[in-house]
Amino acid sequence: MHEHPGHEWWRTAVFYQLYPRSFQDSNGDGIGDLDGITRRLDYLNDGTRASLGIDAIWLSPTFPSPMKDFGYDVSDYTGVDPVFGDMAAMERLIAACHDRGIRVLLDFVPNHTSDQHPWFQESRASRTAARRDWYVWRDPLPGGGVPNNWVSAFGGPAWTFDEATGQYYLHSFLKEQPDLNWRNPEVEAAMHDVLRTWLDRGIDGFRIDVMGMVLKHPDLADNPPNPEWSEGHSDYRQFLWTNNRNYPDVYGAVRGIRRVLDEYEGRMAVGEVFGTPAEIANYYGGDALDGLHLAFNFQFIHESDLRGGFSAWDAPTIRRIIAASEEGLPAGAQPCWAFGNHDRPRFISRHNSDGRGDERARAGALILLGLRGSPFVYYGEEIGMVDQLDIPEERRQDPARHHSIWRDPARTPMQWDASPGRGFSRATPWLPFGPADISVAAQEHDPDSMLSLYRDAIWLRRQERALLEGTLELLPANDLTVAFIRRAPGARSVLVAVNTTGGTTTLPMPQPGRIIIATERTLDSSLAGSLLRLPPFSAAWVALE
Ligand code: NOJ
Repeated sequence: MHEHPGHEWWRTAVFYQLYPRSFQDSNGDGIGDLDGITRRLDYLNDGTRASLGIDAIWLSPTFPSPMKDFGYDVSDYTGVDPVFGDMAAMERLIAACHDRGIRVLLDFVPNHTSDQHPWFQESRASRTAARRDWYVWRDPLPGGGVPNNWVSAFGGPAWTFDEATGQYYLHSFLKEQPDLNWRNPEVEAAMHDVLRTWLDRGIDGFRIDVMGMVLKHPDLADNPPNPEWSEGHSDYRQFLWTNNRNYPDVYGAVRGIRRVLDEYEGRMAVGEVFGTPAEIANYYGGDALDGLHLAFNFQFIHESDLRGGFSAWDAPTIRRIIAASEEGLPAGAQPCWAFGNHDRPRFISRHNSDGRGDERARAGALILLGLRGSPFVYYGEEIGMVDQLDIPEERRQDPARHHSIWRDPARTPMQWDASPGRGFSRATPWLPFGPADISVAAQEHDPDSMLSLYRDAIWLRRQERALLEGTLELLPANDLTVAFIRRAPGARSVLVAVNTTGGTTTLPMPQPGRIIIATERTLDSSLAGSLLRLPPFSAAWVALE
């Protein structure tokens, strides 16, 4: 029996992104693994209010990989990399999650494989190899140049010349990550079979890596220059990604993936996509909603990845992001929000130039969990982990640091306690830890901690039907405060308000209410008559009568 449309589990779920290398080491090699995650599941959800209470986890890639891009270079889509365990460990994890009602999403990487994948090995063997056309090969231009002006997301040309066969192959990321050719129906069929293999094993769904890149312009036409780029800036932004990202043919591939998921009951996919709200809307499949179940909206991280810089934490920006999302999505489609992930600096570190990042992050939690849509919490966000910038060169890991971005600071191990191994490992961790004073142990019994705020808000969200399924109405604009009301028929409405400034603000209440959670406990008394008083950087949820 299929779930009733509009009431699927993922619509009300709180998702948790877990970077498997950094969650819990169980075998003492300094790298997190699957059995480690299984051991920590009670922290994520033990069915009581004492746990975080999330509903689903997304594991960044766990497949066999040379780890040039830490698993985003897959050499076998259906296996488990020994660094994380084996298939039995994966089965144990899935079963233990399902026992607790936690759904499991894996990371599907359709755009590229590792250069060590047998498909690429075969493809590069000769120009007449049976799998030659599984990847994107082109002759040099007359005179010997690269086939077009596309740049790799990590910088430098997106093409590498293969001496043996005298052609270039396309790689939108590292040269060790050759792009698959999704115009070849055999490739699409093989990738669909990968999905089925995992769906048969009981996986609940997938996060899909760079979904918008799998189908490029059929003639691989040059990209137009980016008018906002100037000399000295990353070459990633030198051109608009017109012909190799969100190219209209991509939506056909999206529908094909959806059809595979629909062969099973209760499964879903969330796409990593970049673009304007209108482009993001396309990934849902338009009014037919026959595309992805969810597509990430990264605008709280950056409003445009081609412009550079990060989104500000101020009322006009927050309001603009919410309004654009509400206006942009087809009816029945639900936004999907993330305030951080393994590719970007952590929320607190992005908003800490005045040392108030922690306070903004507390308010951020109530916004993320109060918005209409699916919230994704990045591991450690719930205890206020910060970027670890102090990593000596010899311990740096991210290969992209040689090209464009350095992502190690946001990938450091989960901090379970203040001990030298942070409860993560007894060995030297693969990346250095962050500051010892940020840990689960320090926060779990403190009702004022970030962890308690997350637990309480996630628990409360589950009780408030308006938050789970209600509409969102933005209240009239004001440069200091953002407020919106969530309403569902037959349920009490909830107002979500945030003061983004360093001064106290007041908000006229549209109707009487009662604060049900706030970033600071002193707020309990700050709803006087028809005015809500919000201290600096605070946020609150108010149940309306
Ligand atoms: C996006 C992933 O999130 C990132 O970590 C990875 O490097 C690229 N895609 C390439 O797979």
